[in-house]
Parts: sequence; C-alpha cells; structure tokens
Amino acid sequence: MQSTDDLARSRYARMRWNTPLSEEHAALLVQRLDVRPGSRVLDLGCGWGELLLRAVAAGGVAGPVATRGVGVDTDDAALARGRRLAASRSLNRHVAFVMGEAATWQEPADRVLSIGAAHAFGGTDAALDALTTVLRPGGRLLFGAAFWERSPTAEVEQIFGAETTDLPGLVEAAREHGWRVLHLSTADQREWDDFESTWLAGRQEWLLRHPTDHRAAEVRAELDDRLRQYVGGYRGVLGLAYLVLGR
Ligand SMILES: C[S@@+](CC[C@H](N)C(=O)[O-])C[C@H]1O[C@@H](n2cnc3c(N)ncnc32)[C@H](O)[C@@H]1O
Repeated sequence: MQSTDDLARSRYARMRWNTPLSEEHAALLVQRLDVRPGSRVLDLGCGWGELLLRAVAAGGVAGPVATRGVGVDTDDAALARGRRLAASRSLNRHVAFVMGEAATWQEPADRVLSIGAAHAFGGTDAALDALTTVLRPGGRLLFGAAFWERSPTAEVEQIFGAETTDLPGLVEAAREHGWRVLHLSTADQREWDDFESTWLAGRQEWLLRHPTDHRAAEVRAELDDRLRQYVGGYRGVLGLAYLVLGR
C-alpha cells in the first residue's frame, strides 16, 4: 500500500514555481525588481518561494549589507519545501518562511512579491489596495495577476470569478490604486502549457506508478477534468500579467 504522503508529495513535484513563467521571463522580472543590497524582500503567498530566493540572491547576501527575505503562505508543505530550498542554497540565514495570512501581514519591505495570490486578499482590487501598506517608500512591487486575454464563456468565468478583467482593466485598476507601472509582461502560450503540464505531471506520474491504488480512479478523474477544462475552456483565454509597480 502506498502512503498518502507519496501522492501529496507528487502534487507540485514537477513545478519550479506555481505560476506560468519561464526561466528567461523570471530573470527579466528579477532584473526589473532591481533588488538592492541590504534591502528587505517580502513575498505574500510565496508557495515554496523560488522567485523570492532568486530575488534575495540577486540583492546579494555576502558582507554587512546582506539582503533578507520573508515568505508568507498558509501551505505548510510549500513552506517546508521553501526552507529546504533555502538551506540547499545557503540562504537559510537570510530567508524566513512564515505560516501566515497574506492579508494580515504588517511588516513593510523594500521589494514585495505577490504572484497568483490576489484571492488571499479578496481579489485583485483588494490586493492592489492592501499591498500599498506593506511597501516602503521608493519600493517596488512585483504583482502577478490573472486577466482575460479573450472573453470567457460563462462556464470559464464561473471557474475564475466574475471579478477578473481584461488587461487594460487590470492596468487601470493599478493606476486607480496609485501605482505606476514600471514593467508589464504577460505569460505566453508555452509558459501556460508548461505550467498546466507541470501542475498535472507529478500526479500523472504517480498514477502511472500506482494504477491500482484505491485513490487512482479519483485522481485520474480529477486530472482529466483539469486538462479538459484547460484545453477546452481557458487555454488562450485566461492570461497572467506580471506588473512591476512603484508609487
Ligand atoms: C498560485 S500559488 C502561487 C505561489 C507563488 N507565488 C508562486 O508564484 O510560485 C498561490 C499561493 O497562495 C497561497 N495562499 C492562498 N491563500 C493564502 C492566504 N490566505 N495567505 C497566504 N497565502 C495564501 C497558496 O498556498 C499558494 O501557495
């Protein structure tokens, strides 16, 4: 009999981060975030904090003006993975992973990341408002948020919520909350396909290893549903924008 942990562990196993993002695109975002030595970096809804770790490393951790980071999330397993990653890169003295609610975090930072976690604040508008309070003056926010690339069907809109806007609407929302857009880029189709594939891949591989496990039918149905929803529903319709914002 296989342990529940084996299935749980496989869930995110093939993902580098939990967002549609290539290595090249990530490097661009970290560059545009312009992390300075000695600064404080905060990631709200960090997951396992891959981008947070890269941002802190980009700021530099050697010498008396070491950059420091804090990642906040509600997922215990993701936080534990973040701590292991930090230790494997000798960043564990510089980056803390904290169990907590993104929306109630109070300690401000010079660079703030929040990617794919707007729902933790109550939606994009609420996030753009709340994040103003955790950014120090002169700081930068890397905000990753969903938008409609094309008009969704009613079924797709129901999955992602009626609050999602198109890209002009997202940019306008940022402006209305007092942000200036220092950088804007969106996930391309290959980044989306890779994200959706890696989201499924850990459990697809688990299924191939354990076809007769008592949970196999349920897992198979869940993965099939998600892939159907993607290719038949929101592929090319839901977008993900990365905005580097200042105020
Ligand atoms: C789509 S994932 C993105 C993770 C990470 N930012 C990345 O790009 O890899 C959204 C994250 O938000 C976290 N989350 C959801 N609700 C939260 C809350 N109320 N407070 C903090 N984190 C939350 C989830 O656990 C998950 O790790």
